[in-house]
Amino acid sequence: MKILITGGCGFVGSNIGFYLKKKLKNVKISSLDNLIRRGSEINQRRLKKININNFNIDISNSKKINNLKIKFDLIIDCCAEPAIEVSKTEPDRVLNTNLIGTYNILKKCLKDKSNLIFLSSSRVYSINYLRGLVNNLILKKPIKKIIRVNENFPTSEPSSLYGFTKLASEKLIKEFFYKTNQKYLINRFGVISGPWQFGKQDQGFVPLWVAKHFLKKKLSYIGFGGNGFQIRDVIHINDVCDLILIQIKKLNKINNKTLNIGGGLKSFSSLRNLTNLCREETNNIIPIKSISKTSAFDIPIYVTDNSKTFRLYNWRPKRSMSQIVKDIYIWIKENKEVWKYFK
Ligand SMILES: NC(=O)c1ccc[n+]([C@@H]2O[C@H](COP(=O)([O-])OP(=O)(O)OC[C@H]3O[C@@H](n4cnc5c(N)ncnc54)[C@H](O)[C@@H]3O)[C@@H](O)[C@H]2O)c1
Repeated sequence: MKILITGGCGFVGSNIGFYLKKKLKNVKISSLDNLIRRGSEINQRRLKKININNFNIDISNSKKINNLKIKFDLIIDCCAEPAIEVSKTEPDRVLNTNLIGTYNILKKCLKDKSNLIFLSSSRVYSINYLRGLVNNLILKKPIKKIIRVNENFPTSEPSSLYGFTKLASEKLIKEFFYKTNQKYLINRFGVISGPWQFGKQDQGFVPLWVAKHFLKKKLSYIGFGGNGFQIRDVIHINDVCDLILIQIKKLNKINNKTLNIGGGLKSFSSLRNLTNLCREETNNIIPIKSISKTSAFDIPIYVTDNSKTFRLYNWRPKRSMSQIVKDIYIWIKENKEVWKYFK
């Protein structure tokens, strides 16, 4: 089996590459990544050692994608500019990477009759409706009532340019695969985290939190009153990899579906609780500032309803938030080369 992982040197793509290489026999895995994300150059070197080679190509370059010689049986599309705030500063790059990139991959899929697993996002859901999940956007106390989000949650209103490119990509996939024998899956993930995520303030907050505690730097609670009561579910990257393997094995039977996948009630946290977990793990207490103002694209809470995915695959996330923090802490402690990415 020949697999292409786009964004293969990124956090999710590289972890999936390592995992599938170990679990699947007779598999040839390639990556496509232009290394724009800081840290992806390290993953490229790590992948090379296990014989996963990277095509250093911009996914928006249709000619170069079309010229790829290998016919892939499966493409796992993990390529995106995933930071929501970048949509404001670099909308052209976001559209070219996240939407034109999908279009180019779909043309390649059609030419080679490849199947596709697409990494979509919980951010396809409309901001106004997600904000409606709490009574007051100034969070003065911990959120008590956790309402989980399933696949029928509204997507019709604005969701950020990032969310738009993901939703538009989903629709494009359905158009391209309509009336073909090819199979696709659309996985709408909540926050994913774990080792080898080069997190920053606007994307990948869990490793950022752990690293800043470990390196004794500063942090800020930003938005919703600046008290750190906003909540996200976070799924461990190993839980993601476990599920992707099951999905590949069952793709002939279970396909052409859109699924919500996340840490759910097994693994969710407020920023304050994350601070406590980081303090326990690192034994360090660092200064945390409070910035009250909320970005127009931010949401107070997101927790996934995994019911549909569970029904189809009998799969549930196994790892908790504290496990995620622990694994990231060990990764950072043991790899001095990554410290500079968090300074
Ligand atoms: N990490 C999360 O919490 C999360 C949650 C939901 C969905 N997702 C989705 O999962 C996928 C993987 O996310 P990630 O966290 O690994 O992000 P990442 O930034 O670590 O990885 C994306 C990779 O794509 C590459 N890339 C970006 N633009 C490119 C371009 N124009 N051409 C070629 N390569 C390019 C980057 O260099 C990077 O290595 C994305 O589609 C993202 O939207 C991620």
